[in-house]
Amino acid sequence: MTSPRGSFVVLEGPDGAGKSTQVARLATRLDALPTREPGDTPLGAELRRLLLDDDQLTRPGLRAEALMMAADRAQHIEEVVEPALAAGRHVVSDRFIGSSVAYQGYGRGLDPMAVLGISQFAAAGLEADLVIVVDVPVEVTLDRVGGQQDRIEAAGPEFHRRVRTGFLAQADADAQRWVVVDGSRSVDEVTQAIVTAVRDRLGLLNDASRARG
Ligand code: TYD
Repeated sequence: MTSPRGSFVVLEGPDGAGKSTQVARLATRLDALPTREPGDTPLGAELRRLLLDDDQLTRPGLRAEALMMAADRAQHIEEVVEPALAAGRHVVSDRFIGSSVAYQGYGRGLDPMAVLGISQFAAAGLEADLVIVVDVPVEVTLDRVGGQQDRIEAAGPEFHRRVRTGFLAQADADAQRWVVVDGSRSVDEVTQAIVTAVRDRLGLLNDASRARG
């Protein structure tokens, strides 16, 4: 008998929202594969370097940036995510299509629907079962990111305000699959809100959460 497909859970949100800690925690609770975009395949690691370093010679233009994010996504889905889901493993990804729509669409000013289109092409039509936005005001996230900023982090507060608007707009437009949690609370409280969302929306973690009290 073939095993049932795993669930695909995505955490989205601005830089400095504390997503990576939450991805690691949720993956442990779900016994899921933790993964991230960009950079979770050998090709993706090269693309990530080109995307985030601020090298004058190789700095991508707006469309190239969107297509490089999409290329990373295509490789990530084909090489990592889809095989895991098909084998029955849950996957928790740090960022997915919503980040391209928010950063390259709302942030950079490309048409969000066009960005969505290339992202869906890249993902071969795969959609997340649940998208959780860890939402934090820009003033707080920029403070957390601090002085060591990569090329995208350094795009300025107005850019990051538009990115946040982009995440909230996507969550508003698809309330069935998207949930917004307040990421300005303590790390444990944010984890609890994420676990509650996964339990309510996907019916997972019922036994594990009871066992842990
Ligand atoms: P991330 O790995 O979350 O950053 P960090 O390692 O600093 O926590 O993401 C790297 C950057 O890439 C982040 O600024 C968001 C950006 N990004 C996009 O602009 N578009 C995308 O589609 C994705 C996946 C990420």
